This record gives sequence, C-alpha cells and structure tokens, in this order.
Amino acid sequence: MRFAERMGRLSTAASFDMLARGKALEAAGRSIIHLGIGEPDFDTPSFIRRAADAALAAGYTHYGPAAGLPEFRKLIADTWRARRGLACEPANVVVTPGAKPILFFAMLATLEAGDEVLIPSPAFPTYASVAQFLGARVVPVPLVAERGFDVDLAALRQRITPRSRMLILNSPHNPTGGVLPRATLEALAELTRRNDLIVVSDEIYAGMVHEGESPSIATLPGMVERTVVVDGFSKTYAMTGWRLGFGIMPEPLARHMAALMNNSNSCTATFVQKAGEAALTGPQDEVMAMVAEFRARREVVVAGLNAIPGVHCSPPAGAFYAFPRILGTGLRSEELADQLLEESGVVTLPGTGFGAEGEGHLRLSYANSRENLREGLARIQEFLAARVRA
Ligand SMILES: Cc1ncc(COP(=O)(O)O)c(C=O)c1O
Repeated sequence: MRFAERMGRLSTAASFDMLARGKALEAAGRSIIHLGIGEPDFDTPSFIRRAADAALAAGYTHYGPAAGLPEFRKLIADTWRARRGLACEPANVVVTPGAKPILFFAMLATLEAGDEVLIPSPAFPTYASVAQFLGARVVPVPLVAERGFDVDLAALRQRITPRSRMLILNSPHNPTGGVLPRATLEALAELTRRNDLIVVSDEIYAGMVHEGESPSIATLPGMVERTVVVDGFSKTYAMTGWRLGFGIMPEPLARHMAALMNNSNSCTATFVQKAGEAALTGPQDEVMAMVAEFRARREVVVAGLNAIPGVHCSPPAGAFYAFPRILGTGLRSEELADQLLEESGVVTLPGTGFGAEGEGHLRLSYANSRENLREGLARIQEFLAARVRA
C-alpha cells in the first residue's frame, strides 16, 4: 500500500512509548510507579455513569445532530456563560468525541499550507503534529520557566510575520502546569487583534486551578469573534474513555465544524452526551473533592522533588502535572526518564516529548495516590543519590 505524503508529517505522542514500556515491565513482574499518564486516577462519578445507563434505557442509541444534541449545546452555552463569562449561544457550541477533534477540525477548517502557527512550547504534542500534517509551519514560542512558564511576549512579537495565522494557547498548561496571568492574556489579545490571528485556547484544565484564576482569553474585548475555546469532560469529570469534548467558537466556524463532524464521526454518541448533561447539572462535590486531592498531592510532589539534589520544581499553578528542572542531575531528559524506568521502575516523561524546548525537564503526572507518589519520589531520590555517589 502506498501512503499519502502527509502521513509522514503526522506524529503520535512519543510519551505513549514510555507508558507502553512501563506496562510491559509491569507485565513481566516488575513493580512500576506510573507518573506518566495524563488522566485522573479517579473513576467517573457514579451519578454520571447512572445517567448513561438511564439514557441507553431511554433509547439514546441512535444518530444525533452532527454538532451535538440541541439541549446539550444549550446547556454548555448556558454553563460556560455562567462559569467562565463567555458570551456564547448554542449555535457557537460544537460537541465532539473528546477535545482533540476540536483541535484537529479548527486547524483543518482554517489553515492553508505555508500558514504559520505560533505555539508556546513545550506543548501538548498534538498541536504541532496536526499543524504540520496540514502543511502549516510550526513556530515555537518560548515559555519562561522562572515566571511560572508564562509566554515570552518579546519572543512572540519577534516571531509574528505576515504569514502568521494562528496562536495556540493552553492554560492551565500541559506539560508545565503553568497558568497564564490575566496581564499576559491581555497582551496576547492585543497582539492577536492587531495581527488578525485566530486563537485556539485549549482550556481543558480550567477546572483545575490551584492558585489564582485562569480566565478565558475569549472574554477579553474583541476576542470572542476570533477565538476557539477547546474544552471537554475528560479531565474535570474523569471521563477520558467516554470521549466527550466541545468547542465554543464563532458561528461560521461552528457550521464548518459540523460539516467536518458529519463527514467523519457523524455525531458524538448520544447517550454519552446525556451523561455529559448529568455531569454539568448534577452535584459537583466529587469534582471539587478530586481537585482538592490534586492540590494536596501537588504539595507532596513539589516538596519531594525539591528535596532531591539536582532537581528543582516550582509549584505548578494548575492541572495535575509537575515539570521539574533536572539539569543539575547531569543527565538529559530522555536519559533520565529512560534510566528511571529501567533501573527504578518509575515512569516519567522526558520534557522533550513536548518539543525540543522541554529539554532539561521531566513531566510527572500527580494523578496517582499520595502513597504511590511518595514511593515514586523515594525511588527517584535513591536513584540520583546512587549516581552522585558513583
Ligand atoms: C492540553 C490537552 N488538550 C487536549 C487533550 C485531549 O483531551 P480529550 O481526551 O478530551 O481529547 C489533552 C489530553 O491529554 C490535553 O492534555
């Protein structure tokens, strides 16, 4: 079989290799601590699972509209207007199987070959992969570790050209846990308006902010008409396997996205949308307890990492990731992640799995029990202490 040239430009996240290697070692009898996986370790709250059962029993087993069930689109618009202050109507909402299709379709609908996409890096690898797949040019923009991984605005200004078409933001941020301050969002809004850029704002971790606030750039003046807000249920409601996400965007783009949905997935599973309705309207106490637990684990991870010689970690303001600096260990990111897995049985991800700009860092997910986190940190400490002694 001969494949299209563009397939050579699509990558799958290197991080999945580490996860697979960890699983393989575990299957061979090794004790493995998983600090790699980017999904809540909690189960979906039971009232949401019951809502899916009830929806199946009630006959939500058929096709639905491509952009989502009208009542669900309305509920999302109402909820995001109330929770996040977004000026949106049901016609601005498109429901998809997970948040990833929104990212994919937003780029598919707007980018031409040769367009430049500005991506603060390190970043979730899908952004660059899809942009390259579509023939666009990825322009990485550095983040400033010393300022909580804020966007380097001066560097961004220098990288804007007449071919710049899109800026992708992600706050709270995977892999660093950084949250963009309001002042940065205001500066970014001004830049994108002046240069007529589309903004893709991935806010999938907006429900997990541990310090301060993480407003949506779409709430700033003149931004709602140029922004695609990407969000979903995977992280906030511990629903990764259900595949339920959505985007909030200008209506003309929503119509194109509905056409892309129609031609690819037909629609998002209707009983899953009903479960999503229950998630938004039901009691939020389990969600709040989960976020509180992540916050407590964050303390364990940051303190544990900072007690290890050669490692430094500032407290991540959101999501459930820590992105410690490991240059002081004398090892490069991939070497360290590799050796921690093989020798200590701890899965972490090299910062370079999120772009070359991630060198000198590891990503640790603290979506694991405090007990496992303590064990994982103890193993990392032991491994590095032995290396220093050797
Ligand atoms: C930043 C970011 N955006 C989007 C996604 C994808 O979410 P979904 O499971 O809803 O497709 C992830 C998942 O890891 C993520 O980290």
